Amino acid sequence: MAGAIKETVSNLIEKFQGSAEEAPREPSAEEFQQLQQKYADAGQGHVFAFVDELKPVEKARLFHQVSNFDPTRINELATTALNPPKTEQTTVSLEPLPDVATASILDSDPSDIQRWYDEGLKQVAENKVAVVLMAGGQGTRLGSSAPKGCFDIGLLSQKSLFQLQAERISKLQSLAQKVNGAEATIPWYVMTSGPTRKPTEEFFEKHGYFGLNKNNVTIFEQGVLPCISNEGKIMLETKGKAAVAPDGNGGIYQALVTSGVREDMRRRGVQHIHAYCVDNSLVKVADPVFIGFAASKDVDIATKVVRKRNATESVGLILLKNGKPDVVEYSEIDKDTAEAKDPKQPDVLKYRAANIVNHYYSFRFLESIETWSHKLPHHVARKKIPCIDPSTGDVVKPEKPNGVKLEQFVFDVFPMTPLDKFASIEVRREDEFSPLKNARGTGEDDPDTSRRDIMNQGQRWIEKAGGVVITDGEAFGVEVSPLISYGGENLEFLKGREIKAPAILEKEE
Ligand code: UTP
Repeated sequence: MAGAIKETVSNLIEKFQGSAEEAPREPSAEEFQQLQQKYADAGQGHVFAFVDELKPVEKARLFHQVSNFDPTRINELATTALNPPKTEQTTVSLEPLPDVATASILDSDPSDIQRWYDEGLKQVAENKVAVVLMAGGQGTRLGSSAPKGCFDIGLLSQKSLFQLQAERISKLQSLAQKVNGAEATIPWYVMTSGPTRKPTEEFFEKHGYFGLNKNNVTIFEQGVLPCISNEGKIMLETKGKAAVAPDGNGGIYQALVTSGVREDMRRRGVQHIHAYCVDNSLVKVADPVFIGFAASKDVDIATKVVRKRNATESVGLILLKNGKPDVVEYSEIDKDTAEAKDPKQPDVLKYRAANIVNHYYSFRFLESIETWSHKLPHHVARKKIPCIDPSTGDVVKPEKPNGVKLEQFVFDVFPMTPLDKFASIEVRREDEFSPLKNARGTGEDDPDTSRRDIMNQGQRWIEKAGGVVITDGEAFGVEVSPLISYGGENLEFLKGREIKAPAILEKEE
């Protein structure tokens, strides 16, 4: 079964994408007939309902697209996802991760934080650190037609999220270079999907890879799966094309293998990987503290968390579920659990480790992907999916969810990880987490909150370095270019200087 999925994804990446532009090879009548039969046998014969209306090139495209799915396997996934097996209601035990597996930037000894930073920077200096960006989502809530990473959140510099992240990588490379005088490289692997790949590639090209060496930036593609109707049938986007959607951010594991990214990491001698979501405007890409923390604990997976704001905040929590590391959604915990206080610190919540999808992986762990990736479940996302009615050929523009997208979640791997190979570190929300999820004007996790959080952070850094920021009502904050400071360092030259907000600091002067 795992083989079927693997085959699907790798073939799709190589063949299906190419086929959208180039004229595909025309299948023989026999090949076509065999494929049609395979789909008919699986009860999915309607995929070919309009084949007689298609031009030869459209017919060939349909052939290549759907020959990369195994309809029997799709049926299995759809059946399990649509009718999840009823598990007997057993008591679920929840506990915070044990102290031995956790640390907090908020109350760690500064010497520990420095030690992790030094260790992490040393790993960067030795070219052992790589970064994987998950940027395959379609960003429907944001409502921009371009990939989220291209989004201009309204900074004075008008930098996109991609540019901010690229400049943080660039700055970290130069900080690491000072460790032993040799050039340091942090390869950046950008995971896209069918809908985001081309515009992402074009954006990187247009902006000269934001000053990074193009040879160290790899844009790759995650897999897709067919969209399934509520009745378990593969949906048609057009008469000659199945409706497909990216297979969720958990598609990262399979895609690292099939795209050759893992092989590239191996070739480069990468040992530590930081993976993160494109939409966190404050993300500390390849953060040395995080890398050093995880490396010194010798774990396979580490996660960053932020402190849950209050008992009712809608965030997933990282904790132990039935003795295993896991993510539990806010909707899954009861009021008493949500409100429970930490016996050791009665003014903070017991369950406070909010998931921000910011992960560390050891390369050793990525080497084992084949042994567990087939066990990752597929989740159902009920969506309004424009499609063709297979019985009439009419275009359907649904007003309520008419089908499902099947998605894997990146964190479903946690429960498969032994506790002694898992760790979590709490970081400051105001320094590390400001997600861009919603359209401007929403007031929460939108471009204005992203911009505000970056500007406020810059102001805090400058004030800490002894500068004075003059604010006035709406006029607040300083945008500090990541090329000047990665995490607040290197700003001593501003000591005693006055800066009128809002300001931008692009050069050391
Ligand atoms: P979200 O689940 O927030 O989805 O993704 P999204 O696409 O950004 O936004 P909505 O829900 O459509 O509004 C969290 C992270 O996972 C990535 C996204 O790019 C984002 O970084 N992701 C999501 C993928 O890389 N692939 C996917 O298939 C889905």
